[in-house]
Amino acid sequence: MTHGDVLAPYPLPRPAHRLVLALDFPSWNEALPLAERLAPEVGCLKIGLELFLREGPTVVREASRLAPVFLDLKLHDIPRTIDHATASALASGARLLSLHAAAGHTALQRAARRTEGTSLIPVAVTVLTSLSADDLRQLGVDNDLDTQVLCLARLAWEAGIRAFVTSPREVGLLRRAFPGALLITPGIRAQAGGDDQQRTACARDAIAAGSDLLVVGRPLRHAADPVQTASVLAEEIRKGLEQRQSR
Ligand code: C5P
Repeated sequence: MTHGDVLAPYPLPRPAHRLVLALDFPSWNEALPLAERLAPEVGCLKIGLELFLREGPTVVREASRLAPVFLDLKLHDIPRTIDHATASALASGARLLSLHAAAGHTALQRAARRTEGTSLIPVAVTVLTSLSADDLRQLGVDNDLDTQVLCLARLAWEAGIRAFVTSPREVGLLRRAFPGALLITPGIRAQAGGDDQQRTACARDAIAAGSDLLVVGRPLRHAADPVQTASVLAEEIRKGLEQRQSR
């Protein structure tokens, strides 16, 4: 499988299409103004637990009228539950669905098989971008961050998953190890520090290192002019793509 094959159901004609807007709002009423305003400026709307648990699958259908939806529920469960939850996500009309690689080979394989030949791309979360090396140690993981990200990505790849969520810090590592994977990076910040994201990078660096899609939440939600901020990010993406090609 090539990089183009994974991206085939997800065309990216413009740099702005690589932006995924995280709709981390408590209700659809509160999300709608920003979703409507930014849908033409981004490639995808991401619905996470906060919004989904309040609104249910109807919010996926509503948001899908504006742009493709990434259903970021980070499933982590036994294989049968993952399989049936993936079927439900498919019925909701979502285009991307996240699950934790730590759910293990069989669960990942069930998600991969359930989505074969459909327009839903299962995405394996490696190590959350909010976790530091110390957090990993507290979890009882002896591997360093890079090794753990690679280990989880390999597990998911062998189970048939071709898309990963990872921090921009490890994206270069994953790009080299999996040239054909779809790589999605949250933790996009103009400057490091200031909130709960630990392993961050700016949009240009994340794209230059090999990221395909950038998940952006607070930098767009808190912007005085979100449309202007999206266009600045799109320009950074364009430069990052140029940098990647010139290597
Ligand atoms: O506001 P911010 O730009 O940090 O938003 C990042 C989004 O990406 C949040 O919705 C968060 O749940 C999600 N995410 C993440 N790290 C992962 C997977 C998803 O930050 N590993």
